[in-house]
Amino acid sequence: QAFFKPIQNTAPPSPTARHIKISVIGVGNVGMAIAQTILTQDLADELALVDAKADKLRGEMLDLQHAAAFLPRTNIRASVDYSVTAASDLCIVTAGARQLPGESRLNLLQRNVSLFQTIIPTLARYSPDSILLIVSNPVDILTYVAWKLSGFPSNRVIGSGTNLDSSRFRFLIADHLDVNAQDVQAYIVGEHGDSSVALWSSISVGGVPVLSFLKNQQIKHEKESLEHIHKAVVDGAYEVISLKGYTSWAIGYSVASLARTILRDQRRIHPISVIARGFHGIEGGDVFLSLPAQLGRDGILGVADVCLTEEEAQKLRHSAQTILELQSQLGF
Ligand code: NAI
Ligand code: 2OP
Repeated sequence: QAFFKPIQNTAPPSPTARHIKISVIGVGNVGMAIAQTILTQDLADELALVDAKADKLRGEMLDLQHAAAFLPRTNIRASVDYSVTAASDLCIVTAGARQLPGESRLNLLQRNVSLFQTIIPTLARYSPDSILLIVSNPVDILTYVAWKLSGFPSNRVIGSGTNLDSSRFRFLIADHLDVNAQDVQAYIVGEHGDSSVALWSSISVGGVPVLSFLKNQQIKHEKESLEHIHKAVVDGAYEVISLKGYTSWAIGYSVASLARTILRDQRRIHPISVIARGFHGIEGGDVFLSLPAQLGRDGILGVADVCLTEEEAQKLRHSAQTILELQSQLGF
């Protein structure tokens, strides 16, 4: 029984009206931060949540649904059964083990690969045309694993990568120069985490290249402060984890920004984990690492051909080698 009565001579519903569906797998700290940011930013008509813990899942779903009067309208559903994700446009995977204080992301590999062996093929079966956005750590290797297990083309398998590290970098530079982080252009590429590479020559504020600005002003020792900033980026997640046990808010905003660019076909450039073979001399196998990539409704549209110094390219190749060695033990 419809609440409203139809008016006369109406047309049937428009067949072109787009229904956007996002699924989030894993409703822990990260999954919920992403879910709530997606809801507040009005990015989906339907949000499906999946987790292995049925009670926690239903509790989180109800808690979000109870905010309906304060949010844009989104149909929120949750189930331990993956059929709830059917026909998603975007599947965001956050399920899995997280680091203990001081533990490296790479240490999570075996545990999270086992989970992916059931999660990814099931998601791919229910949403064969979707884009997979991987967040679980170690994100670069798990993006490779998701690519292999899904059978999807590489433009539709993305790792959240260094979009988060770059935001930390921009925050710290902005803080150092007392400007707005949104006016700072700066990229961290490579592995999300310990061996990430800061692209010093790419840093500009309001269109002014920072390195040449400092040189012209004859400001000394700034290279050391900038390197200190990169170290603070790498150490940042460890510090947050040792203080509060996990990271959540920044990754929530980072992933929502990727979802917006993809689903609204914004064609913005984000440093994200993509198949990096062939870029900057990376050879020897298929490896996912972050590079600045243009994103849109079809996923990855292309990778920006950034100019790296030989030192930066070498660091990137070193990360690729480390990751390839770990991948070779996985048997994919
Ligand atoms: P958490 O422990 O709070 O949540 C993990 C959730 O996954 C739990 O609710 C658990 O029940 C669920 N889960 C476990 N196995 C599952 C399965 N087979 N199917 C469905 N759900 C399952 O952990 P948290 O803090 O949310 O972190 C999640 C992941 O995200 C970790 O791997 C963490 O390292 C990673 N992470 C990645 C970041 C990035 O920048 N890529 C940033 C922050 C965290
Ligand atoms: C982060 O960088 C732990 O990968 C997670 O916040």
